Amino acid sequence: MNLFILTGAGVSAESGLGVFRGPGAALWKRYDPMQLATPEAFARDPALVHAFYNARRRNLLAASPNAAHAALARLEAGLAQRGGALTLVTQNIDDLHERAGSTRVIHMHGELLKARCAACGAVSDRREDLSTDSRCDRGGALRPHVVWFGETPLYMEEIYAALEAADLFVAIGTSGAVYPAAGFVREARARGLRCCELNLEPSENAAEFDERRYGRASEITPSWAQEILAR
Ligand code: APR
Repeated sequence: MNLFILTGAGVSAESGLGVFRGPGAALWKRYDPMQLATPEAFARDPALVHAFYNARRRNLLAASPNAAHAALARLEAGLAQRGGALTLVTQNIDDLHERAGSTRVIHMHGELLKARCAACGAVSDRREDLSTDSRCDRGGALRPHVVWFGETPLYMEEIYAALEAADLFVAIGTSGAVYPAAGFVREARARGLRCCELNLEPSENAAEFDERRYGRASEITPSWAQEILAR
């Protein structure tokens, strides 16, 4: 079996990393994304943007993977043993999938523990806070290596190639509110793939899925992954 899995913020919610939308203290309810997560916002007030991502980076460094991350890492290993493969495409900028043991993770929205030079584009590892004084080796200003609204996601060619090769499409912990990720299910259906949604509640494109399971990711992902490996 060749599995394509798309994950979103809901997978990391139980690790204490906020989701963007939905009930309660969702990030984009508390903060205006146009003031914090656009290239224009960074040009206008880089210190404000750095403060926002510095706080999220510190939060991430204090967080740990949960049972959903662990189940997906086990699934990757189990499928490989059976001659199958799993491509894990995440919208998340945290490193919890990797910390749980997943090895084939595509971060289409970038990574919080990396910085990028706004001038030369060089990407480097970053665990400390960034500030307006942070510079790359060639003197360019550093920004978080994340994809902001209005910017093109990363690795789109690899992602569509993996969709092309997959037999099953699964979305876990995502609201289906942000494109192009929210459109992957339609691409998958157009290729005749069976599509499954695992989420706390129906996503914005729940109707596109053949199978839907609702609950907390740490509870529904391990049992679903076990079923896949038992096939
Ligand atoms: N278990 C499973 N699902 C959960 C849980 C949980 N414990 N908690 C919340 N959810 C679900 C919510 O019901 C919601 O549908 O996770 C989804 C999270 O949706 P969003 O907050 O919109 O996150 P995501 O879909 O990843 O957002 C996409 O938007 O803001 C941008 O770049 C950012 O990558 C992000 C993109």
